[in-house]
Amino acid sequence: MTQLFKRKPIAELLAEGDQSLKRVMGAGDLIMLAIGAVIGAGIFSAIGTAAAGQIGPNGEVIRYGAGPALVFSFLLLGGACALAGLCYAELAAMIPQAGSAYAYSYATLGELVAWIIGWDLILEYAVGNVAVAISWGDYFNTLLHGFGVNVPAWLTTGYRTTLLSSDPAIHGLLASAPHIAGIPIVVHVPAFAIVMLITWLLLLGARESATANNVMVVIKLIALSLFIVVGATHLSAANYHPFTPNGFRGIHQGAAIVFFAYIGFDAISTAAEETRNPQRNLPIGILGGLAICTLIYVIVGAVLTGMVPYRELAVADPLARALQLAGFARVGGLVALGATVSMAAVLLVFQYGQPRIFFAMARDGLLPQWAARVSPKTHVPYVTTVVTGVFVALWSLIGDAGETYDLTNIGTLFAFMLVSVGVLVLRYKEPDRPRPFRVPFVWPVAVLSAAGCLFIMKGLPDVAWRRFGYWLALGLILYFAYGFHHSRIRGPQGQA
Ligand code: ALA
Repeated sequence: MTQLFKRKPIAELLAEGDQSLKRVMGAGDLIMLAIGAVIGAGIFSAIGTAAAGQIGPNGEVIRYGAGPALVFSFLLLGGACALAGLCYAELAAMIPQAGSAYAYSYATLGELVAWIIGWDLILEYAVGNVAVAISWGDYFNTLLHGFGVNVPAWLTTGYRTTLLSSDPAIHGLLASAPHIAGIPIVVHVPAFAIVMLITWLLLLGARESATANNVMVVIKLIALSLFIVVGATHLSAANYHPFTPNGFRGIHQGAAIVFFAYIGFDAISTAAEETRNPQRNLPIGILGGLAICTLIYVIVGAVLTGMVPYRELAVADPLARALQLAGFARVGGLVALGATVSMAAVLLVFQYGQPRIFFAMARDGLLPQWAARVSPKTHVPYVTTVVTGVFVALWSLIGDAGETYDLTNIGTLFAFMLVSVGVLVLRYKEPDRPRPFRVPFVWPVAVLSAAGCLFIMKGLPDVAWRRFGYWLALGLILYFAYGFHHSRIRGPQGQA
């Protein structure tokens, strides 16, 4: 039992860190980093399902929508993420290492929990990118339509989406699409293609630079501002009635899917090593970034649900669709362009992050050594980059965005929860270890953070919980089949 919970000494983790990093980032840089990682498919796409809810092909309710009360969902999420963000900041500043929550939990909660989190982060990074790639493909398709290019629907829709849709035009593709050996060919080619393109760029050694990030942030803010300014000229009071069509249940279940829009702010904790005066700047960066995104999201949510009846928003490209319905097709096209650029940036961040988490796990012996291979020329962990690329691309080809949002959200919320608990465990076990940043009022903040994450998780459909359970069970089997015997910390056969 003690072997399973063996912790990795923090001193060792620190020694693994990149000593060449300089403390150059201020609070403003962190806020830009947060906005760059956060604004993407969540606000451009998942927001539609969060407002409208989701009906299955047989008329069954998969989730209730928040309606115009979506603004409350965003406020709830902003609060919960702020608490979790503070917990991330404390661990990130203490253990500034690339593996993110995986590395923090190895030092705090031991190897088994670290493995579970590492396995779980696949849901946040790789599966999250499946959702972003599909949403990217949907907006790309809107753009093509705008230019008069109409690609057949069976080439721009994933198999799972046709299966789950209550829209006869989409569900009907199962029958009308070409068949090979009796199997309908319904595939999302644009989603597949963008992932392959990004993987290729990463293999060449691409990574997000601060300048590229700043350009992306400006594009995202222009696209959303354009939506807000033009949309606000077309509001109708009638669309705000009823304001809470499904009561708190709608707000809760809406929050559970649009949580996706907040994922990524944890990424700024990984810049802890490069931050000047982290005690002051990390919380300003995390909370400031979250406050700005929450404010933007609330305004976008209020405008979107005021422009068209919320039920119309159950589409893949709700912002562009609302503008089209309101008669602003050109502006819709521009927003769609901004959306594709924003989402491509998010794809790059996560497609860059996932191989490095695999890399950290392989270095610790929890994954086979071949996974840790790095190209001598480009310094890219090319094996894990290709594996991640192929996995995400193939799933994007046939997957459904809604399903993957749910799986990503449940996995990420679980990681946030464990990080919050980890902060308390480490305060208790190693109270005197230097902490460049300390969570204020740590007990209430960490407990509320964990409880808040659990509460949001409970708004997800049962099927997401079941799949999450299967995923964790598969992870445990793999750990006992491989990692347990090969862990570097515990030595061969776990005898160290
Ligand atoms: N928050 C990121 C997005 O919405 C993951 O695309």
